[in-house]
Amino acid sequence: MKLLSTPISLNLLAQLTLLIKMKNVGQAPDGHIFACTSKSERECFDRMLFATNHVYGENVLKIKKGDLLFLLNLDTDTLYGTFLARSDGAKDIVPEAWKGRYPYQVKVSHDGKLYSIIGAKKVLSSTGISWHGMLKGEIAQSLSQYLKNPNGSLKIAKKNVDDNNPRLETTTLWDYPRQNYGKTQKGSNKYAGVTPAFVIYNMIKRYTEQGDLVLDPMAGSGTTIDVCKEEGRRCIAYDISPTRSDIIQNDARKIPLADASAEMIFIDSPYGDNITYNDHPDNIGLISAETDQFYKELEKVMIECYRVLKPGKVLGWLIGDQWVKKKFTPVGFRVYECLCKYFDTVDIVCIARRSQTSNTPIWHSRALRFNFYLRGFKYLFIMRKRVDELPAKRKISWRQYSRT
Ligand SMILES: C[S@@+](CC[C@H](N)C(=O)[O-])C[C@H]1O[C@@H](n2cnc3c(N)ncnc32)[C@H](O)[C@@H]1O
Repeated sequence: MKLLSTPISLNLLAQLTLLIKMKNVGQAPDGHIFACTSKSERECFDRMLFATNHVYGENVLKIKKGDLLFLLNLDTDTLYGTFLARSDGAKDIVPEAWKGRYPYQVKVSHDGKLYSIIGAKKVLSSTGISWHGMLKGEIAQSLSQYLKNPNGSLKIAKKNVDDNNPRLETTTLWDYPRQNYGKTQKGSNKYAGVTPAFVIYNMIKRYTEQGDLVLDPMAGSGTTIDVCKEEGRRCIAYDISPTRSDIIQNDARKIPLADASAEMIFIDSPYGDNITYNDHPDNIGLISAETDQFYKELEKVMIECYRVLKPGKVLGWLIGDQWVKKKFTPVGFRVYECLCKYFDTVDIVCIARRSQTSNTPIWHSRALRFNFYLRGFKYLFIMRKRVDELPAKRKISWRQYSRT
């Protein structure tokens, strides 16, 4: 197929679909940018099918027949357009395409002529257009016009670009300046020890699909519930001392769910007795992280998490170290060592701590005066339950982590 700024024969039917849609709805169709590589580009054109994996799958399901589509080759930095969606976005339209790697798909056709621009990423980022999100009708139209005439300017007010969601992280350092994101509150900033919502957002986007069941056995102010609600996941949340009516009172050491019932578990457990969550006698946050008892109780929670998680699915465990009264306790290392008895490691992520109470000038000056460090990060242990294993304790083979 000939591309690069070359007109391609008119597809009248596709044009008509666009016109009918615009007339009926009275507004311009939305737009979507698909990404491909030089390796996968050919199949896009041969099949006239665009596709992505489950991480961006939800965006594809929002595509309606007649929407404007663009294809960005990430290797050559070339944007092709404008295409029309010939079907609604759906899962597995052609299951065997790309050997099943990209199941969220849409059939496409040309809206008459096909154009391309090179150096596309710079053009898109200078206007704040993200290639994973949905483009509002006005923006999609402007981009389509710009492809036809790259000498004209692509005038898009940044406020028109939908950037409410945090980005999907691609490295093992996750840094977001605020606890909350988007237009609605997730969890409560007033809750001591509240989880940064973007951490849960990244976990559920990567490891679950729409409608999956996410479990939070220590839900605190309910951040997991709120993120799941916004992203279309089901959520069951427990806490020893519930702060709201959609959290069920329960001890995480005995979870009232059947074996293998959850698609993902997220847990931000106490890190010791540094924060007073509540005075419930079974609150593990009343036990010091300097004692073995603390890790024994958390291990009971891990065993329950292992039992209720579906094989092959993922647990995210957030935890920080402790430095209290001139003594350092490697809480993260000890918790990780225990998790390895049951789960395989997917990865370990460093979460930058931004909005904690000690992030004040007075604490920074104390850290210098008394020569200690404030906690600057937490660990996020991303662990997977093996598909083929019985829940017996495993010994960690540290050799697999050594460099020799
Ligand atoms: C770090 S907070 C969780 C924060 C929460 N993710 C949020 O965003 O608000 C830890 C929670 O563990 C709960 N907890 C402590 N011991 C527990 C237990 N035995 N069973 C269930 N929850 C427990 C505490 O009540 C506290 O709310």
